[in-house]
Amino acid sequence: MPRLPVPDVLLRTLGRQLGGPSGPLGSLVALIMNKGNGPAITAAVDALELTGSEEVADIGFGGGLGLGLLLDQTRDGGRVHGVEPSLDMVKRAHKAHHEEVAAGRLELHEAGMESLPIADGALDGWISVNTVYFVEDLHPAFVELRRVLAPAGRGVLGIADPEWMAQQAITTYNFTVRPVGDVVSALTAAGLSVEQRTLTGSRPYHLLVCRPEVIPEVTRE
Ligand SMILES: C[S@@+](CC[C@H](N)C(=O)[O-])C[C@H]1O[C@@H](n2cnc3c(N)ncnc32)[C@H](O)[C@@H]1O
Repeated sequence: MPRLPVPDVLLRTLGRQLGGPSGPLGSLVALIMNKGNGPAITAAVDALELTGSEEVADIGFGGGLGLGLLLDQTRDGGRVHGVEPSLDMVKRAHKAHHEEVAAGRLELHEAGMESLPIADGALDGWISVNTVYFVEDLHPAFVELRRVLAPAGRGVLGIADPEWMAQQAITTYNFTVRPVGDVVSALTAAGLSVEQRTLTGSRPYHLLVCRPEVIPEVTRE
């Protein structure tokens, strides 16, 4: 059966919601994201290779699937930060995980990746999945992602393949779709070394596994 075109107004509304889910429609979008982005979020968490005692973050957690996975994988004394600019998504995560918040296992922050309320080098790992399409200026955001990583820490940035993205009508609204190479260059410029892993399937997807660059010590003669 031929696909009916989706009206522009619907695409615009959905594009806005994906970049900042809010209100009753935001709750629906949160469910859709948790389902549709589940494989990418799970792969990003797996790529952190957690042992259970780490301090980690999901930056731009949206519907919050990643928070639950990170909490599951840090049961041995670890802690999780959830960072998200949408207050409604922060409230939703608080409701879903109020016990972990009360126990100090989960700390929720209403913030964007450009200004992380997390101390320098505090994190053993972070994931940030499907977020950078909504970040205007990558450099200050990636400098922040680098700043919060411990020297042996690891971050995983997830982005859908730009060619696939360009075929999706929704990305005309509110999305900035960048070549993978541009994202990798911006991460490198922020002091992160990057290993690119590509997930195949119906929706080609890239995990950019980031580690802080080691700055060689300057020796004095
Ligand atoms: C498409 S959703 C993805 C949510 C979730 N990570 C996932 O993959 O299902 C994009 C999320 O990024 C958040 N976001 C937008 N701008 C951001 C920024 N500057 N820093 C961090 N997150 C941001 C939005 O509020 C939204 O929850």
